[in-house]
Amino acid sequence: MTKKKKTAKVAEPSARAQELREQIRHHEHAYYVLDLPEISDAEFDALFLELRRLEEENPKLITADSPTQRVGGEASEQFAKVRHRSPMLSLQNAFDEDEIRAFDRRVRGAIGGDVHYCAELKIDGLAISLTYEHGRLIRAATRGDGTVGEDVTANVRTIRSVPLSVEPVAGLPDVFEVRGEVYFPIAAFERLNAEMEAQGKARYVNPRNTAAGSVRQIDPTVTGSRDLQTFMYTLDPGGPCRSQWDVLTTLAKMGFRVNKHRRRLTGIDEVLEYHAEWQRKRHELDHEIDGVVIKVDRFDQQLELGFVARSPRWAIAFKYAPEEAETEVEEIACYVGRTGVLTPVAHLKPVIVGGVTVRNVTTHNEDQVNEKGVYVGARVVIHRAGDVIPEIVSVKEPKQGWRMPAKCPVCGGEVVREEPYIAHRCINPFCAAQRLERVRHFASRGAMNIDGLGYATINQLIERKWVVDPSDLFRLTKEQVVQLEGFADKSAQKLLTRIADSQRPPLGRFLYSLGIPQVGEATAELLAAEFGTIDALRSATLEQIDAVESVGSNMANEVRMYFEGHGGELVGRLIEAGVLPQAMEAPGDGPFTGKTFVFTGTLETMGRPDAEALIRGLGGKAASSVSAKTDYVVAGPGAGSKLEKAQKLKLNILDEQQFLELIRDK
Ligand code: IVH
Repeated sequence: MTKKKKTAKVAEPSARAQELREQIRHHEHAYYVLDLPEISDAEFDALFLELRRLEEENPKLITADSPTQRVGGEASEQFAKVRHRSPMLSLQNAFDEDEIRAFDRRVRGAIGGDVHYCAELKIDGLAISLTYEHGRLIRAATRGDGTVGEDVTANVRTIRSVPLSVEPVAGLPDVFEVRGEVYFPIAAFERLNAEMEAQGKARYVNPRNTAAGSVRQIDPTVTGSRDLQTFMYTLDPGGPCRSQWDVLTTLAKMGFRVNKHRRRLTGIDEVLEYHAEWQRKRHELDHEIDGVVIKVDRFDQQLELGFVARSPRWAIAFKYAPEEAETEVEEIACYVGRTGVLTPVAHLKPVIVGGVTVRNVTTHNEDQVNEKGVYVGARVVIHRAGDVIPEIVSVKEPKQGWRMPAKCPVCGGEVVREEPYIAHRCINPFCAAQRLERVRHFASRGAMNIDGLGYATINQLIERKWVVDPSDLFRLTKEQVVQLEGFADKSAQKLLTRIADSQRPPLGRFLYSLGIPQVGEATAELLAAEFGTIDALRSATLEQIDAVESVGSNMANEVRMYFEGHGGELVGRLIEAGVLPQAMEAPGDGPFTGKTFVFTGTLETMGRPDAEALIRGLGGKAASSVSAKTDYVVAGPGAGSKLEKAQKLKLNILDEQQFLELIRDK
């Protein structure tokens, strides 16, 4: 670090700017294209900031392809039309083995002999064309009707896996075009939706439409905030490449993001296997695919095969069953959550979507029901893919006018809409539904982690009035528990032991278990680390809470109000009942001070939250993602991409046994 600073002082601004640009480009490529970060976010930000300052002081140093210039294009009301240099074609589709075998026969018939295929995943995003001139990105365009698309350069420049400049490749002309797909990674999509929900706004329906909407934003900063990703697969003209396989390798070398699951196959049986393999594994990916694309690999053979209408004869999309299906809304019921918020849920005529039967879909709030035009009896299209929560994509004949009930469907209490929020809330704190959800949340895995205390049991406890709030759990007797459905002598004792065993929770988990509005696991950990004890937090002022990093003033307000109201009383009752949240040790004074651990896969002797708490207790940090800064990766069965990344980075990887040995004597 000191060395870098020295260079900064002595170097000419222009030389330093050049150096910084190169470093930033290198790290953007490592992070966004290769998925293998080499430095921390903070270090990256420091480089970026230094370059931005230097450019502000010396505007002449700014180059169009500087990493600071990703967002910079003018916002425009309308996108200019662009004629593609060659039409952006579509693919013929095949849906079953017979159609694929027929394709293979046609291909071999036409070229007279054996053929290699290049197989790729069919990314469910939107097609994009990037034009480079003298190595600089000069234009990005959507597919449009295939002949004329829209100029979305300003927006696409903000996608960080898209290189703004590339090194020349021998044999490529000055102007060339790269085509591929822009998509919304599922995790980023769910993050965006969580943000929308937190702001009381409507969720986005599916990653593909949202990616398309993000690329066509009027304001490029919005596109830039969306974490879009790319996979490129076409280079035109092919320059030195003689095959599709060469193209993919060359694109990757040039710095484009290329899907790593590409494969060179011989014969149609291998094609069928590849298709089946990705049908099984499609939901392990962080994006949606709607099939695989099979391309005749060699360019000379492609040329021989030519085109029919608007599709090449040398390629075919071998599709999977669609993850959308049409059905009917039978009822719109309202569920009451732990904070009293009513959520409308549409009960559907069961329908199979993406391989799973969907019976219910959440419609989030009154506004969203009406924006979509959902009503009882409506024909609706449902989308569901992988881990994506099923949603209504569209309604055949939308109608407005659905209203939330004025009374809580569970307790009959008053339902109010608290402006400016769009949610409706049952304001009766004694509502049985809220009670049930609160106790269930209290016992859940990331919270007090009381195994075996599910909805069915809690419901009975509440109905019998033995449990009114979570503190009553600690007063239950064996005589009571054996009376519950599903319990006998032994199981009742087991449950009581588990409840008793949970009485010394780490402070962060305890705070999370309280269900303070807006306080999720991460915030609970932050508050615990900052205040150390429950008493310190309970007596903290609004200003002190607000001052905690990443706690906004809304959240601080909720926390303060929580402890001033019923929440403060509940904490008192929990402590009376024997719950003793463990004070946080001041960070940085343990055998693992300065060491970062990442846990992945399943641990057999303890839950992940326990392992993380253990490490924090020993002065270390528990992070959720692997980077070059990670000291130890503890991998159990089922570890996936994090383990792969750790192997690539040659990090210290421990199995559970080795981890237990490492901490045993600490
Ligand atoms: S090749 C002439 N490869 O699928 C062939 N397309 O139905 C051009 N797509 O518009 C396309 N993943 O948006 C190709 N690995 C892949 C693809 C892919 C997704 C999309 C692309 C295209 C559509 C064709």
